[in-house]
Amino acid sequence: MPSQHKKKASPKKECEIISEDAVGYCVANVQDQLFFNCIIQGDNLTTLKAIPNSTINLVVTSPPYFKQRDYGSGIGNEKTVDEYIDNLINVFSECVRVLSDEGSIVFNLGDKYLDGSLQLIPYSFALRALKACPVKLVNNITWVKSNPTPRQYQRRLVSSVEPFFHFVKGSEYYYNLKDYLVGNEVKIKKHNGSNIGQTYFELIENSTITLEQKKLALCELQDVIEEVKSGKIESFRMKIKGIHSEPFGGQEGGRKYQLLKKGFTIIKIKGEPLKRDVIECAVETIKGRGHPAIYPLHIIRELIKLLSKPHDVVLDPFIGSGTTAVAAKELNRKYIGIEINEDYCKLARERLMNTFTCRQKPLGFVL
Ligand SMILES: C[S@@+](CC[C@H](N)C(=O)[O-])C[C@H]1O[C@@H](n2cnc3c(N)ncnc32)[C@H](O)[C@@H]1O
Repeated sequence: MPSQHKKKASPKKECEIISEDAVGYCVANVQDQLFFNCIIQGDNLTTLKAIPNSTINLVVTSPPYFKQRDYGSGIGNEKTVDEYIDNLINVFSECVRVLSDEGSIVFNLGDKYLDGSLQLIPYSFALRALKACPVKLVNNITWVKSNPTPRQYQRRLVSSVEPFFHFVKGSEYYYNLKDYLVGNEVKIKKHNGSNIGQTYFELIENSTITLEQKKLALCELQDVIEEVKSGKIESFRMKIKGIHSEPFGGQEGGRKYQLLKKGFTIIKIKGEPLKRDVIECAVETIKGRGHPAIYPLHIIRELIKLLSKPHDVVLDPFIGSGTTAVAAKELNRKYIGIEINEDYCKLARERLMNTFTCRQKPLGFVL
């Protein structure tokens, strides 16, 4: 550690904060000091134990897959799936401890075929995590790989998805849906407007509702068709007394009540863009990046925008080539990365030295 970062440990303080780009100098001994903006070389379980309770806003990480790659040491080379999951749960429990009450933990895991059978390892992990720790599972976000390994097996389909499990400690978690996947929302299918709602005219005519009710129904049907054509609403559905089934339950003035009193009801579908639990993105396949399992920067940026604020602390206990830290730095969050392999630590620090924080709109550009 360079001398300007050395500070005397004060027994009064619970935790001393060493900040701002101490990148490249940190060591695994973090006792009494919380290092921000650094990659710590060491075993994550040991290192995490030195981080005080509730000091981290977001954990985003991707542990090594079971028996997939040889990273030299660390998690992933256990003899059995159970041992592997035990080790992951130990790290996960520490992540829960260091997480603030409004924080989130996102774990991305890959699956494995053993003896011709898929092991469902990510799901076994998620179930164990829910049992072992005081957390809730908000979403299982599916990463759809747009460029899966181009190897077609003859007796099974190509695996092309991976889960990102989003866990929280309670219902008050920070959530910024508005900034997530802006522009990528899935729109509800649009009608061309030419024959929208035409079948309802006939249904109204043939129904047993009164003449007055028919007149009103035809009038409102015409209006709602215009709303769809002008793009004011996405679509609609109509229910007519005696033809369609009655809604179950409901309050006075609600749909059931309208059906009985007016003889019909119209349900307008506004067509808000949907932000779904699916994210499509290519696997990083650039050769010579120095790490065999880099996850997509795009997905991590989106998750950081969704689950943290500027200046929050983002932790990745399996930082690898530094993707989480790169995304955090770009988005003006603090980061802590833990990595057991010295070469990957160097790689992450190199990437970080070439990463710059994006300013907010009026000052420059946004992602
Ligand atoms: C799947 S990779 C993470 C890749 C990373 N998401 C990226 O985009 O580069 C998992 C990493 O965890 C590291 N690792 C495994 N066991 C560890 C441990 N006990 N403590 C710290 N790091 C560990 C491995 O060396 C490997 O680089």
